[in-house]
Amino acid sequence: MDKLRIEGRRRLAGRVEIGGAKNAALPAQAACLLTDEAVSLSNLPAVRDVRTMTRVLEGLGAESSADGGDRLTLRVPRIVAEEAPYELVKTMRASVLVLGPLVARHGRARVSLPGGCAIGERPINFHIEGLRRLGAEIVLEHGYVEARAERLRGAEYSFPFKSVTGTENLMMAAALAEGETVLRNCAQEPEVVDVAKLLRAMGAEISGEGTDEIVIRGRTSLGGARHHVIPDRIEAGTYLAAAAMVGEDVVVAGCDPEAMLPILEQFAAAGVEIERGDDSLRVCGPRALAAQDLRTAPHPGYPTDMQAQYVAMMTQAHGTTLVSETIFEHRFMHASELMRMGADLRIDGHNCVVVGPRSLTGAQVMATDLRASACLVLAALAAEGETVIHRIYHLDRGYECMEGKLGRLGAAVERIR
Ligand code: EPZ
Repeated sequence: MDKLRIEGRRRLAGRVEIGGAKNAALPAQAACLLTDEAVSLSNLPAVRDVRTMTRVLEGLGAESSADGGDRLTLRVPRIVAEEAPYELVKTMRASVLVLGPLVARHGRARVSLPGGCAIGERPINFHIEGLRRLGAEIVLEHGYVEARAERLRGAEYSFPFKSVTGTENLMMAAALAEGETVLRNCAQEPEVVDVAKLLRAMGAEISGEGTDEIVIRGRTSLGGARHHVIPDRIEAGTYLAAAAMVGEDVVVAGCDPEAMLPILEQFAAAGVEIERGDDSLRVCGPRALAAQDLRTAPHPGYPTDMQAQYVAMMTQAHGTTLVSETIFEHRFMHASELMRMGADLRIDGHNCVVVGPRSLTGAQVMATDLRASACLVLAALAAEGETVIHRIYHLDRGYECMEGKLGRLGAAVERIR
C-alpha cells in the first residue's frame, strides 16, 4: 500500500489548479442510467471513486469512453443487470446512487446496503422511505436492498434530516416518475444543484434545487446531455487550509468562491486573509491564526467534509477552539493521530477541543478515511521533521495527485509505492 513521506515546514508559494467535484461527479455518473442516450461529463476529477463508479455502471450495462483528459462519456443502451454488488458497494457507499435511477428506468434494483464506514453508521433509510413513497416495493434481506416498481408515481416526501445523496437519489428517481414529486427539507449543497442542472439538460422538469423544497414533474424518458462538473469546493478548501498554515503566497485557481462562502467566512474569522477573485482565491501568509469555534452543518453551513482540515489548522491557532461535528457521529478519527504529532486535543462525543498553538513533530501516522487523510497531510506540512502517512488509498479516493499539486507549491512530498 502506498504511503506519503512529507518533510515539514517548507513554505508554499505558487498556483494550484482545482479539479472537478468528486461529490458532483458521482451522482452525475449515476444519472446516465436514466437514459439510453450518451451523457458526456467534463471536468471529472481523476480520483479512485470516479473510476469505481464507472465500474459499477459498466456492470449494469454502461458503455464508457474516456478522452484521456477530464471528459468521460457514458451510454446505457439498456440495463443488462440490476445489481450493485457488495464487493463494489463496500468500497464506495456512494454506489447507492444507482438505486433511484435503476428503479426509475428499469423497474428493478438490487443494491448492497452500504454498511457503515470510519465516520459513522451511514444508514440509507431516507433513500428507502422516499422510494417507497414513490411507489417502489422494497425488501431488505441478505444485506441487500431489493426494489421493484412498475412505474414510479410522483409523491410528497420530507427528509427527517438533510441528506445529500438522499436528495440526489430521489430527484433522479422522480425525474422518470408519473406526475409531480415534492421533496422537502432537501440538501442544498452546490453538488445537489449541479445534479439538478444535469437532469434539466437531459430534459427533466425540476425547480427549487438549492432551496429546501424541490419539485420534479416526471417525464416518460430523458435524453443525453453534455455537462461540465463544478469545481471541488472541498479540495479548494483543503489547499486554502494548507496555505493558511504554511503558505507564503498561494493562489487556489479554478474554484468557485461563491460555493465556498461558509468556508471563507470561517477562515476569515480565524484570521486567514483571503483575496477573492471570480474563480480563484489568494492567501498570503504566514498570518497568526486565531482560535475560532466551529459548528458543522448542512449547506449553507460549514461543510463537515472540511472539519478535519480545520482541526489541523486550529492546532496552529492562538487560543482554544471548540469544534462541534453535528453531521456524523464518529468523525474525529484524525484526532488520535494528530495527538501523536504533538497536538493538544480532547474529544468529547460530538465535540473536539483544540488548544493551540502547538508545534507539531513528524511521525508515522495512519490514514483512516478520506478527509482525515487530508488533515494528516496538513499537519505534516506544518510539523518539524518527517511524517510518513500510511494507507493513503483513502486520500486517493477524493484528491487527484495531491503529492504533485503540493510539490509544485514547494512542499517536500514523496509517494512511496
Ligand atoms: C454526502 O454523503 C457526501 N458524499 C459526504 O462526503 C458528505 O460528508 C455528506 O454528504 C454530508 O455533507 C457524497 O456526496 C458522495 P448525508 P451522504 O446523507 O449523502 C444521516 C466525502 O468525504 N442519514 O448527507 O452519505 C447520515 O447518517 C464524503 O467526500 C440518515 O440517517 O451524507 C448523516 O448523519 C464523506 N439516513 C446525515 O444524515 C439516510 O438515509 C447526513 O448524511 C441518509 C443520511
